[in-house]
Amino acid sequence: MYPDRVVSGMRPTGALHLGHYHGALKNWVKMQAEVPCLFFVADWHALTTHYDDPSVIENSTWDMLVDWLAAGIDPSQATLFIQSKVPEHAELHLLLSMATPLGWLERVPTYKDQMEKLADRDLATYGFLGYPLLQAADVLIYRASMVPVGDDQVPHIEMMREIARRFNHIYGKEKGFEEKALDAVKKLGTKRARLYLELRTAYQEQGKDEALEQAKAMLDDAQNLSNIDRERLFGYLEGSRKLILVEPQVRLTESSRVPGIDGQKMSKSYGNAIALREDRESLTKKIRTMPTDPARVRRTDAGDPARCPVWPLHKMYSDDATLQWAQKGCTTAGIGCLECKQPLIDAIARELEPMQERAQPYLDDPSLVRAIVADGCDRARKLAQETMRDVREAMGLSYS
Ligand code: TRP
Ligand code: SF4
Repeated sequence: MYPDRVVSGMRPTGALHLGHYHGALKNWVKMQAEVPCLFFVADWHALTTHYDDPSVIENSTWDMLVDWLAAGIDPSQATLFIQSKVPEHAELHLLLSMATPLGWLERVPTYKDQMEKLADRDLATYGFLGYPLLQAADVLIYRASMVPVGDDQVPHIEMMREIARRFNHIYGKEKGFEEKALDAVKKLGTKRARLYLELRTAYQEQGKDEALEQAKAMLDDAQNLSNIDRERLFGYLEGSRKLILVEPQVRLTESSRVPGIDGQKMSKSYGNAIALREDRESLTKKIRTMPTDPARVRRTDAGDPARCPVWPLHKMYSDDATLQWAQKGCTTAGIGCLECKQPLIDAIARELEPMQERAQPYLDDPSLVRAIVADGCDRARKLAQETMRDVREAMGLSYS
């Protein structure tokens, strides 16, 4: 009933690095060409953990947006916006909070994990407990069908599906729903009405998912239905409730752990990252000073790539021939480490160059980014307002 739509967000962490690119952005770039996508800066989410240090949020937000554009997010395909500029997210968060059991939030695994990890902060706050509920509002407000995230976020998506289901269950009740739904069935015309009811029975009594899919496809094609009737018919297929909010699916981003320049997972907080806007000189320096196999003290000592922190990066960036050359050169002391690192430096530079070219106009003229985001916020807001109209009505708040 609702069109396919992708929603995803990132907390503003400032300039992005290769880990962000291979872990998320590359996937976003691919999806934007396939499905309408909304990508946003989750600045309120940043405040849930850094409420006492808000000074960095603004710059981090713009830096991150430039890097999205640099990575190839195309504002003519995807909608880019900032969470706090679409205040409807907060309204939905508030309304959802009314019926969200505390236990659901306390049981989300990231809640206790993050509390322990960020032990230097006082996270015994209302806002932090509500983190996944705010995230649910971010997605449900667009009736998104898919959310591309990494595996750490899967529990959050599961919880938002439960939130949507519970919402529809509690608030999707409508007086005389059954009669209204059956009236709408008649509007399908005799033949399609019969098919609709058969498919509904096949799904509800025999659990046939294909029947559900077929019925949904038929409703999508039925042109003479009002939106409200269509919504009822979709709800009636699965039960006897209107579907006000949509349960989104997870689209798991294959977890690609990009190794940092110390061999650990690349992360800004470990100080081992290569930024998307790293210039050639600094990139060269970072790779050239990377530690190598500790057994290779002198140039004449043979080494073992399996013990070298450079090797995982090499494997990510180099073709088979280069890898063979490096492997052989290393184990026979045929090449030095700087020699070995050179093709890696070149490969990373080749990947970064087009990004840096794309970033340049936005760095020269920041008003370009402001304009893209202003336009994206407008578009997102229109969609959010449509959903909020239905949500307010369902929750008894549409009086004037
Ligand atoms: N919690 C996500 C993260 O830490 C960021 C986020 C906020 C998000 N709202 C979202 C991701 C909505 C997907 C959809 O990565
Ligand atoms: Fe590592 Fe390459 Fe040096 Fe071998 S030659 S230790 S793989 S940098």
